[in-house]
Amino acid sequence: MANVIGDEHGITDKQWAKLTEEVEPLIPIIMKEIVGHKRHPNITPTRYGLLPANTELTDELIERAKKLKGRYDNLVVLGIGGSALGNIALQTALNPYMYNLDDNQRQGWPRLFVLDNVDPAQLSSFLKWLDDGLKRTLFNVISKAGRTAETVAQLLIIKEKLEDTQEPLADHIIVTTGFEINKEGKIDSTLYKIADELKLPMLEVPKDVGGRFSVLSAVGLFSAAMCGIEIDELLAGARYMHERVSCENFEENPAAINAAINYHYYNHGKKNSVIVPYAYALKDMADWYRQLWAESLGKKLDLNKREVWIGPTPVKALGATDQHSQVQLYREGPNDKLFTFLQVEHFDEDIKIGPAPDCAPELGFLAGKKMSELLNNEKKATEYALLESKRPNLTVIFDKVNAYTIGQFIYLYEVTTSLAGALFNINTYDQPAVELGKEATFALMGKNGEYKKNYTYEQFAQDIRAKTNVDVSFLV
Ligand code: PA5
Repeated sequence: MANVIGDEHGITDKQWAKLTEEVEPLIPIIMKEIVGHKRHPNITPTRYGLLPANTELTDELIERAKKLKGRYDNLVVLGIGGSALGNIALQTALNPYMYNLDDNQRQGWPRLFVLDNVDPAQLSSFLKWLDDGLKRTLFNVISKAGRTAETVAQLLIIKEKLEDTQEPLADHIIVTTGFEINKEGKIDSTLYKIADELKLPMLEVPKDVGGRFSVLSAVGLFSAAMCGIEIDELLAGARYMHERVSCENFEENPAAINAAINYHYYNHGKKNSVIVPYAYALKDMADWYRQLWAESLGKKLDLNKREVWIGPTPVKALGATDQHSQVQLYREGPNDKLFTFLQVEHFDEDIKIGPAPDCAPELGFLAGKKMSELLNNEKKATEYALLESKRPNLTVIFDKVNAYTIGQFIYLYEVTTSLAGALFNINTYDQPAVELGKEATFALMGKNGEYKKNYTYEQFAQDIRAKTNVDVSFLV
């Protein structure tokens, strides 16, 4: 606030009062929007607010996971973007660091690999390692649209490999996709069509839940349940947060405050939003947050179809690691960032630092202290150093990292995003700019037919090549 870092870079009491007036009326509107009430014709409908209450799904997935326990050594998620980042974030947050390598820490659940790319070197190395282990591997192919090039390409590779082993595909592939009906009255997803044909088990990505808001649906919950994560607690945490963020009093509503601070700073020159977890477990939550924030808030048009080219750039860092990499810039570079620290009060495990050797008595100040004390003091020290340079920051405090608090955090950030989108007056739930690259990939890979009326994919590919061919005069 301004009383700490001054009027130029902080928020004054007058500005805070204005933010209260602006944000408070939006709270009930947004709480309705996230359960399916369309508040503006130019907003894509969303229903992610219904996910926390779906205890039937968690019961079903827990049951399914229990039945499958012991059958597989490996679970491999094939998906990208919103169909992968939440899965990775949950695993890093809620299972031990050495989960994949240590059978004891895994307690009978399969290892988890999330292959969210189409990198041939990565996949061949993985398949070489897997070898005959393919027979004890389950693939969860996730795509809401069901035709994402990266994911379907991975599926085709895996399908061929599995067919070579003569193993029944239905024992090794479970598909998670959207069941939405298109204009011809058919389910739109190619993945659904394949799964139906091959009689593969399927889970549904609910209608009106975009990829980046889908972690609390079957998208994120199946792999989590298969890795022993208490998915019922995740939803319980989200339900608790639903109550908190429904509170119509601005000062008591964490999502409203978070959105207001982010909105204010964006409008006051802090165009970058740096998230800095001070816990390895929360490291991949930063990746999940980056997608949520970037795809939801980075928009060319506002709701009145006026060009606004808006959106804070989300940046990830990790404490204390990035203190030794980024803080120089963060303190002495441009004052164009808002910092969000994620801090953990109580770590599940703690370690005492050993005694200082006689030859190094200068290390006495560390000896015998807990590692968590060092980490949290490093956070405080960095916060102080940033404040000294008039850099605004806020902290989200986790009492502990567990399924209940992670469920709270996810839901808090989803609702914060919806409120921020409303403040920016944009459509939070579409991603039109992502489509062009997807279609261009199809064209370059030789897709047949028309891309647009009277314009074939082949013509499109020629136009792309004409613009992107290497200009040899610049080759050095
Ligand atoms: O948030 C989104 O909608 C996107 O990032 C998608 O998650 C991503 O493109 C993957 O899409 P799909 O799940 O349809 O394969």
